[in-house]
Amino acid sequence: MDRSEIHNLRRLMAYEKARSAPPKAFPDLPQIPAGRYTDSRFFELEQAHIWKKTWLLAGHLDELPEAGSFRLWELTGQPILLVRTREGGVNAFYNTCRHRGAPLVTEESGRRPLLTCKYHGWSYSHEGDLIAVPGEEDYSDLDKSCLSLIKVRCELFGKFVFVNFDERGPSLLEWLGPVADDWREFQFDKCRLSARHVFDLNCNWKVAMEANMEVYHIRNIHPTSVGLMIDDRQNVNTLFANGHARMICPSRDTGPGPLATRSGRPHMAEIETVGEIGRTCTQSYNLFPNWVSPLSQYSLPPLLFWPNGIDKCRFETWTVAPDWGDGKGPDLWTVNDGERLCDVLLEDTEFGVWIQKSMNSGGFRGVPLSYQEARIYHWNQEADRMIGVENIPAELRVEQVIGENWVYPNDPRLDELTPAIAAE
Ligand code: FES
Ligand SMILES: [Fe+2]
Repeated sequence: MDRSEIHNLRRLMAYEKARSAPPKAFPDLPQIPAGRYTDSRFFELEQAHIWKKTWLLAGHLDELPEAGSFRLWELTGQPILLVRTREGGVNAFYNTCRHRGAPLVTEESGRRPLLTCKYHGWSYSHEGDLIAVPGEEDYSDLDKSCLSLIKVRCELFGKFVFVNFDERGPSLLEWLGPVADDWREFQFDKCRLSARHVFDLNCNWKVAMEANMEVYHIRNIHPTSVGLMIDDRQNVNTLFANGHARMICPSRDTGPGPLATRSGRPHMAEIETVGEIGRTCTQSYNLFPNWVSPLSQYSLPPLLFWPNGIDKCRFETWTVAPDWGDGKGPDLWTVNDGERLCDVLLEDTEFGVWIQKSMNSGGFRGVPLSYQEARIYHWNQEADRMIGVENIPAELRVEQVIGENWVYPNDPRLDELTPAIAAE
């Protein structure tokens, strides 16, 4: 992050602290329709459009250490196989044999010189080419070149493996846009995967995710943890294209920071290139559709939210950290290597099942969001654009009220600033 960006962020922190109302240019936010959490029509639209058209975090290169290493990834409900190639890249295929659909692998991970179907023994290369068919002479006209494994788009950001089911659309870097520029100082290409766990939650996936998309809840939910560590009055939200967003909220002290403290490892290794903001603030991103991650000099710990039904979801917690040497690396989010969520995440997820019960009752009519919760509204606008507004029943749409003038690098707050509240 360059000096002028840091300068603007410091000025915006002072602005946020001093304001007594939302910025003049900020629109009134209509309520989010309740049915977006409960109506099966909206759930089906999400399935058809959001999960099939966006870049999704599927794995980490450390899980695929050698040529032929594979990992099964089924968190979207589709059986996908990630395979490390001889050139060091990663291919993603449906784990679906082109003969009669049997799986190529049934283990979660492993290593194979060839991908050989266990049913009748068809064999595929790591590039997905069908190279051997037992009893091929019994086929009268089998064109192996037309029976390669079906590939899914797969690209890397550093050692993070992303998958996209849409054959068209932007590259991963285009999709990330300015977020990728922000992330360069965090060394996604060098940090190691140290923990990855999945938990089942009994609420709609957006209910769980939205608990991590605003600081409004901090004082009530986290009064003795995060609430003591960050100054939520100075929080600065920034909205990016494609539904992504960032929050930057200064820490109350210059100690090891909330994440290092939370991990119980005060002497964690550091990513030396992380700049001033990452070291003195909680710098957190939500990446459309389902990634939330605070980044710091100590770790890159994404949280991911995957629907597995309209009223339940899978909550994935990752910790990626700079080289910690030998032994077990840090795990920011769980206790006893995945035995349970850490206290902060228990606080964040505590009301999910209660909210879901309300949503399924007659008492839930819609969601009025404040300026501080703008990232949630921004996400919903992007969701509708991705689905196609005309495809959504009128009563389930959100109005597109946050305009381009609020999407980075535009920021009407900077126009409101006066020298008196500038930080420098
Ligand atoms: S289903 Fe794979 S070889 Fe028959
Ligand atoms: Fe929280």
